[in-house]
Amino acid sequence: MSQPAIHLEGKVAIVTGASRGIGEAIARAFAGAGAKVVLAARKPEALSQVAESIVAAGGEAFWHAAHTGHPEECDALVRAAIERYGKVDVLVNNAATNVYFGPMLDTEWAAWDKIFEVNLKGYFAMNRAVARHLIERNAKGSLVQMASVAGIRAAPLQGVYGMTKAAVLSMTRTLAVELGSAGIRVNAIAPGLIDTRFSAALTTNDAIRDHVVSATPLGRVGMPEEIAGAALYLASDASSFVTGETLVVDGGWTIG
Ligand SMILES: NC(=O)c1ccc[n+]([C@@H]2O[C@H](COP(=O)([O-])OP(=O)(O)OC[C@H]3O[C@@H](n4cnc5c(N)ncnc54)[C@H](OP(=O)(O)O)[C@@H]3O)[C@@H](O)[C@H]2O)c1
Repeated sequence: MSQPAIHLEGKVAIVTGASRGIGEAIARAFAGAGAKVVLAARKPEALSQVAESIVAAGGEAFWHAAHTGHPEECDALVRAAIERYGKVDVLVNNAATNVYFGPMLDTEWAAWDKIFEVNLKGYFAMNRAVARHLIERNAKGSLVQMASVAGIRAAPLQGVYGMTKAAVLSMTRTLAVELGSAGIRVNAIAPGLIDTRFSAALTTNDAIRDHVVSATPLGRVGMPEEIAGAALYLASDASSFVTGETLVVDGGWTIG
């Protein structure tokens, strides 16, 4: 009997936003599953430390600093990965930002531009660069998009961020249709509240945290490692017939 294919042996994976939080957990899980992992973020210090600790633990990894809101830096990141490991098979678009927390009507244009630049232009630039490389190689691949439950339900006080996450789900479905015939799968993950620096404004506010936890059937916030399992499934051949889907990982919050 054949074994389920939840491993990444022989695969090269780029993970953006890999210097902490969910991206770091995904990079570690991918390396543990046998992938060669290219870690990206803007600031080299934390990024290099994560890459070095993966290598120290016996994994294969290298880091490349890139601002994913700048398409030319996305192209350079994909080129660096190919130069180092010869190819890319898997992309996890995870680096995102939310620079404004408050009523949607009060959003400054500078905040709007920043959130759209990183969360949408960045995701698209990375998807395009990796998809073009896969098509050129005539290779199958998996593009995994970190969305959010904020893109599925209303996102009070995070409205523009929620809009970009909803648009990521649209991008996921359209790319899945357009790239399916090339054997490239495109899926999204929609995490609920996960304990990271990004969500600290929510998790350290007792009222908000209690509100979310009480509406979550599993009765707690999630940990970054609990998103890594979903990413590993979608990146691996275990999900070989899954495309255009959104995997909600939220302890049941959206159905609670
Ligand atoms: N935490 C949650 O509750 C939650 C819930 C739903 C969805 N998500 C999504 O999960 C993903 C990761 O979130 P997280 O909570 O792990 O965040 P985090 O702990 O703040 O980590 C963000 C990572 O992205 C990098 N990054 C930020 N801006 C970047 C840019 N312009 N270019 C390249 N890298 C950039 C950061 O490194 P540098 O600062 O060095 O660039 C860091 O490595 C995001 O897409 C977020 O929207 C999170």
